[in-house]
Amino acid sequence: MKKPRAIITREDIAKRVDELADQIRRDYRGKNPLLIGVLKGSFVFLSDLVRAMNIPAEIDFVRLASYGAGTESSGKIKLVKDIETPIKDRHVLIVEDIVDRGLTVRFLLDYLSFRKPASLKLCTLFDKPSRRKVEVPIDYRGFTIPDAFVVGYGLDCNEQYRYLPDLCVLEE
Ligand code: IMP
Ligand code: MG
Repeated sequence: MKKPRAIITREDIAKRVDELADQIRRDYRGKNPLLIGVLKGSFVFLSDLVRAMNIPAEIDFVRLASYGAGTESSGKIKLVKDIETPIKDRHVLIVEDIVDRGLTVRFLLDYLSFRKPASLKLCTLFDKPSRRKVEVPIDYRGFTIPDAFVVGYGLDCNEQYRYLPDLCVLEE
């Protein structure tokens, strides 16, 4: 049985989310931004972020999945659920839980930029740069974390642990 151990506490996450929200509020005030959450992992972060931002904003979601040989290195991403909002000439902010290899976000940036938004930026709460396969520009970053598999605050391991309020690693 694996046991979760907190590496970033709910208090530290809350403080950092507030800081990110302050920055985003300054940059997007009056722009009615569209926040696009990447399901499922980002649902906790997005809900805290949008309330901390406290400016008019719209919300939509995409869901992406890797497919192919089932190995990590297959690196093929497909869209499982598309956004429902037209984004042409909108200020779009992608809200991700974690950028790991960068493949998911790279796919999404390419996919969304094709629809000609007024601006397109990326906000991720966690960044694991040591595993990056493709470069992605991160405009708002919560925490840089070491190369470990993390769960909690929306992030899962086989759909478990999303409910944990702290960011945790799993230990034997
Ligand atoms: P990437 O394409 O490798 O950057 O994958 C990013 C996606 O993989 C994230 O949106 C997460 O859903 C998932 N992921 C990557 N690392 C972790 C982790 O440590 N815990 C949970 N999910 C992760
Ligand atoms: Mg994700």
